Amino acid sequence: MLVSAKEMLTKAKAGKYAVGQFNINNLEWTKAILLTAQELKSPVILGVSEGAGKYMCGYKTIVGMVNGMLEELNITVPVALHLDHGSYEGAKACIEAGFSSVMFDGSHYPIEENIAKTTELVKICEEKGLSLEAEVGSIGGEEDGVVGAGECADPDECKAIADLGITMLAAGIGNIHGKYPENWAGLSFETLDAIQQKTGEMPLVLHGGTGIPSDMIKKAISLGVAKINVNTECQLSFAAATREYIEAGKDQSGKGFDPRKLLAPGFEAIKATVKEKMELFGSVNKAE
Ligand code: 13P
Repeated sequence: MLVSAKEMLTKAKAGKYAVGQFNINNLEWTKAILLTAQELKSPVILGVSEGAGKYMCGYKTIVGMVNGMLEELNITVPVALHLDHGSYEGAKACIEAGFSSVMFDGSHYPIEENIAKTTELVKICEEKGLSLEAEVGSIGGEEDGVVGAGECADPDECKAIADLGITMLAAGIGNIHGKYPENWAGLSFETLDAIQQKTGEMPLVLHGGTGIPSDMIKKAISLGVAKINVNTECQLSFAAATREYIEAGKDQSGKGFDPRKLLAPGFEAIKATVKEKMELFGSVNKAE
């Protein structure tokens, strides 16, 4: 059964580790992430962007697929199904469809509007026992056509949003989606520290987990990050493994064109990436 992300993130923050949010694109992605979480006894969050939601034939299709897998694969670790960077309407649609967690990304609105819309969703999520992520300070880079400038959040605005009763808070600290450019200045730990001092127990979310060096990930966790989002890195490892298979001509030998064979190396590559991240984030053996 899907669970809200509240309990797993409260435990992560207290235990000084982070739970990974891995974005899904299709059946292979979902199965690879769920099986790895189960093998490593790690809690996990499946992330779905609005674009990926459309690609997978809508939120109801996704809820059906994920719930089916939890049962058929005997997944017993805590799993949350979470809308990533949702609009207000998108968040409501996911709540209707049976997601256990949603993000409302109001970071591009003036802070008053972000507060007003987040407040409404807090009410709805509380009634239904779902977790809610809010965002202050847009995350840079491009994801599904949403381009953010990348900024450091204002700690006072973070506190104003955190106090509304959300479950977890994403705050820009110089992180961006996708690959980091050569001249990236790194995470702003000064900003993160100031945000954590203002927001106390609130689990903080680090977006743009792809390509952040391990030492920065560990430092971010020590400063209150309890959820780390990874998307591009699974896509890159899937693509590289698939390329290798095709370039080796394996699709042209025997029944190598069978999608169950063709997609197998990419599937294994996603599993390896998720395992590496769960080990780095410290969430292995934290499921009970
Ligand atoms: P990356 O694609 O950079 O890993 O970022 C993922 C993310 O933050 C999803 O919200």
